[in-house]
Amino acid sequence: MAKITYIENNEKIHTIEVDNGLSVMEGAVQNNIPGIDADCGGAMACATCHVYVKEEWFNKLPKKEDGEEDMLDMAYEPNKFSRLSCQLIISDELNGLTVKLPTKQA
Ligand code: FES
Repeated sequence: MAKITYIENNEKIHTIEVDNGLSVMEGAVQNNIPGIDADCGGAMACATCHVYVKEEWFNKLPKKEDGEEDMLDMAYEPNKFSRLSCQLIISDELNGLTVKLPTKQA
């Protein structure tokens, strides 16, 4: 289990505990956090689960697969800290992870 902090674009902060094995996207959807649409349900086929990872966490995350990079190109205003939250799987090591949500999803 890990505490994950989601910061909405309007700076509203949600910190929740998410079970290991779920994705950062699933943690948001199951807790009704607005700003992550996840239209494809986690199949890496929509880019509507795009988040900006806080810089101090970005390099601690598992590397992106090729397909994730391609999908991020279709996200709304991606930057160098962008990830697809459906590809970030919760483990104890991610305790404290903070992600910011974009103004809108793709
Ligand atoms: S939920 Fe569709 S790419 Fe993540």
